[in-house]
Amino acid sequence: MIRDIIIAIDGHSGCGKSTTSRLLAKYLNFKYLDSGAMYRAVTLFFMNNNILPSQDIEINNALKDIQIDFKYVDGEQHVFLNNNDIESDIRSDDVSNNVSLFSSNSFLRKFLVNKQKAFGNNKDIVVEGRDITTVVFPDAEIKVFMTANIEVRAKRRFNEMKIKNPEITYSDVIDNLEKRDVQDSTRKDSPLMIANDAFILDTSDLEISEQVDKIINFIKKKFS
Ligand code: DC
Repeated sequence: MIRDIIIAIDGHSGCGKSTTSRLLAKYLNFKYLDSGAMYRAVTLFFMNNNILPSQDIEINNALKDIQIDFKYVDGEQHVFLNNNDIESDIRSDDVSNNVSLFSSNSFLRKFLVNKQKAFGNNKDIVVEGRDITTVVFPDAEIKVFMTANIEVRAKRRFNEMKIKNPEITYSDVIDNLEKRDVQDSTRKDSPLMIANDAFILDTSDLEISEQVDKIINFIKKKFS
């Protein structure tokens, strides 16, 4: 039985990280942490309070007023901001378009990285994000970097998003992904990088179940 490990998964937006991580956690009976949801939650907080990504002092002062929790609602993990369920609000276009800008703020990153580290204290957790293998858990027993070509990622995101937002176009989605790729990879603090010892998983031609199987095989091989 696989136990007492942290599985850290980084990668680009839209390559199936969240679904894969969630299924992997379920299969192993591990906890699951969606670190992107935490960046989305603080982005929503700042947007609601008219604070801009460039307002360092205001951001730093406001962090003490932010409480983020994860709770299960109808069997699904939801993110709560100051005791309010904001799971659907954080997936809005507005939040998606602003989250990368707020994510480059160093005060905010430090605040969230500390919280994320605390989630890993008891191990047996799958954590996914953009700096998990390099900054949050550089000593994780398993590190995975997920990627896929941009057209495949945009197509998947578009199919997902048009259910909630019929107005959205494929070109909106590809533009947002391209912008986020650049912002996530070029920001000064903790840019998206591939850890030296990460297992690189290209999901361009894979179904979700195949992605999960490949990671499980990698883990089994590592501990056999
Ligand atoms: O995975 P996602 O699309 O929900 O992530 C939203 C944004 O949060 C992403 O564009 C970059 C940021 N993020 C980050 O900077 N570091 C993380 N560990 C997770 C997400």
